Amino acid sequence: MLNSLETRPADKIIRLIQEFKDDPRTDKIDLGVGVYRDASGLTPIMRSVKNAEKSLWETETTKAYTGIAGDPEFRESMAHLLLGTDAPTNRLATLHTPGGTGAVRQALELTRMVSPDARVWISDPTWPNHVSITRYVGLQVQLYRYFDSGTRIVDFASMMEDLERAERGDIVVLHGCCHNPTGANLSTLQWHELSEFALNRGIVPLVDIAYQGFGDGINEDAFGLRLLANELPEVLIAASCSKNFGVYRERTGLLGVIAETSDAAQRTQSTLVFLNRQSISFPPDHGARLVTMILGDQELRCDWENELDSIRTLIGKLRRQLSEELRRLSGSDRFGFLAEHRGMFSLLGASEEQVLQMRRNAGIYMVSDSRINVAGLNKSSVPVLASAMIDVGL
Ligand code: LMR
Repeated sequence: MLNSLETRPADKIIRLIQEFKDDPRTDKIDLGVGVYRDASGLTPIMRSVKNAEKSLWETETTKAYTGIAGDPEFRESMAHLLLGTDAPTNRLATLHTPGGTGAVRQALELTRMVSPDARVWISDPTWPNHVSITRYVGLQVQLYRYFDSGTRIVDFASMMEDLERAERGDIVVLHGCCHNPTGANLSTLQWHELSEFALNRGIVPLVDIAYQGFGDGINEDAFGLRLLANELPEVLIAASCSKNFGVYRERTGLLGVIAETSDAAQRTQSTLVFLNRQSISFPPDHGARLVTMILGDQELRCDWENELDSIRTLIGKLRRQLSEELRRLSGSDRFGFLAEHRGMFSLLGASEEQVLQMRRNAGIYMVSDSRINVAGLNKSSVPVLASAMIDVGL
């Protein structure tokens, strides 16, 4: 059976983790996978998470199964974090999934089940796994233009021109905030326009929100999602706790599905339970338990919000520092976009060859499309990156 298998190339982001590890240079710089790093290069466990863990260790009395959809308290507190106080909770079905990736996968499984001919519109560029999972579950991918590589902002006119071809029942994948890989986000006005368009056209947004709190703030980053959730009859939400709680390996995510009526939401809820049962049965509890404890305890929550604030502030600072350093070295403003973008990622605009050159010459690792993880930088690596960029002719 297995003899016919071919070796699959690893995902271009995941491949970098190993390539970086294998590089013996001690001054190498990892700007690959989207993981926050502090000034010493470590991905620390957040204080609030550590404290929740301590208290969990003392108080947890059983490891018996939770629910197939996950713990209701986790799902409720996440729904609240994502959707705020005005959420249409009577039309909301939720599922605890292993990470945001699990939520994307279950959202697409659900789509395939109820609407196998739906086309899935995905921004070009996007997180590569969006395209890969959509194809893997057997749905048709359509790309829409998103990013203007000249101005480095969202090319909204082209995006809408492409989405004009979407039909009723199609899915449009949107990044809730901190677009991966471009760092360029929709404006408030653009969210409004998109919401109206989706309503009139009858298309269903799948909002992938993996960086809530990394852009402009917890509530600010959920603006577009909340707007769609309140305006549209149906919305799919794939949320990750990996980054904003720093619980990457605990695989903690949530699929939210807003249905047109509360009746439909109830049937959706039972379908979501079915989907977990067919794939993972019970979702992993540890990360979700910590998130629930943090969101439900005033002191832990306040500490978590402060930590998240400092991460966001630091990313902003690094962005400005890099942009300044490049202004100094290049004598131009052409890297001003780095300070304007939000979240962990920006595309530097380097060719694959230039990306490889920076790796060879300076030990700097970034994704082949020149996506950098700004949160992988620190005060002293910023000038190294800036010089390497100028040296390769950027
Ligand atoms: C990334 O884009 O680097 C992260 O979302 C990690 C991943 O799974 O690709």
